[in-house]
Amino acid sequence: MSGPSAEEVVGAKRALAKALRVVVLTGAGVSAESGVPTFRGAGGLWKQFRAEDLATPIAFGRDPRLVWEWYGWRRAEVGRCRPNPAHLALARWMLSRAGVTLVSQNVDDLHERAAREVALDAEASARALPIKLHGSLFHDRCARCNHRVAGGAVDATGLETLPHCAECGGLMRPDVVWFGEMLPARAVEAAFAAAADAEACLVIGTTGAVYPAAGVAHAAKASGASVVIVDPGPTELDGIADVRLRGAAGDIVPRILG
Ligand code: APR
Repeated sequence: MSGPSAEEVVGAKRALAKALRVVVLTGAGVSAESGVPTFRGAGGLWKQFRAEDLATPIAFGRDPRLVWEWYGWRRAEVGRCRPNPAHLALARWMLSRAGVTLVSQNVDDLHERAAREVALDAEASARALPIKLHGSLFHDRCARCNHRVAGGAVDATGLETLPHCAECGGLMRPDVVWFGEMLPARAVEAAFAAAADAEACLVIGTTGAVYPAAGVAHAAKASGASVVIVDPGPTELDGIADVRLRGAAGDIVPRILG
């Protein structure tokens, strides 16, 4: 598969550079080159595991040990991954200009790590942090009182070894949004406000199969934004693309934002 033509890259660069306000929507594909498995692609998590056994509140109620075993494994795996050139180019771009809002479906914290890596200090890195629609793999939340803490290594040998709440003693759960659960209201509000105000929307590495996240791109399109999509494969958002760049994020994103 040959990558995008020079004209396509210039077209995308121009659409993004002239937009005063841009909303960026990322999915698992932006982290694929960091070694984080996607969900629906070849070797994707939902090809290997049954989401209904691992990523729903019912599954957690039925067998919290199994769910924690899986999230503990993912946390260890993803913890070893590093931001790739796409994450880093996005963070640098966000620090180099105003008016960019990053909305991510990812729970891998690689955008955050990229922001910290490229920014001079914590205050500056805050400008390159994403709105997180689906939570974080690296935080735990009490299933009873919602107390939230940074998550560590998980011992899933028994119910008693699983993380418990320091506030109320309840069982902690991974602080991610599971199927059938509501997304954090403030994050959704901020994401759709940025979409409604955007003059351009950059979509990177998502099939666009999951709502309301995919709705961010549709909302931006509806408000007149030009939509640029970066993905090696077909996506459910292709129909609204003004510029469609076929290829890997790690190769294309630095070229269109550099
Ligand atoms: N660069 C860019 N895109 C890539 C790359 C790459 N190197 N490798 C794969 N992709 C693309 C795939 O072609 C696919 O379109 O990334 C996309 C990944 O799609 P999914 O696996 O469906 O992941 P995502 O869209 O993020 O899933 C949405 O579903 O399972 C839930 O909560 C989970 O946040 C997730 C949501």
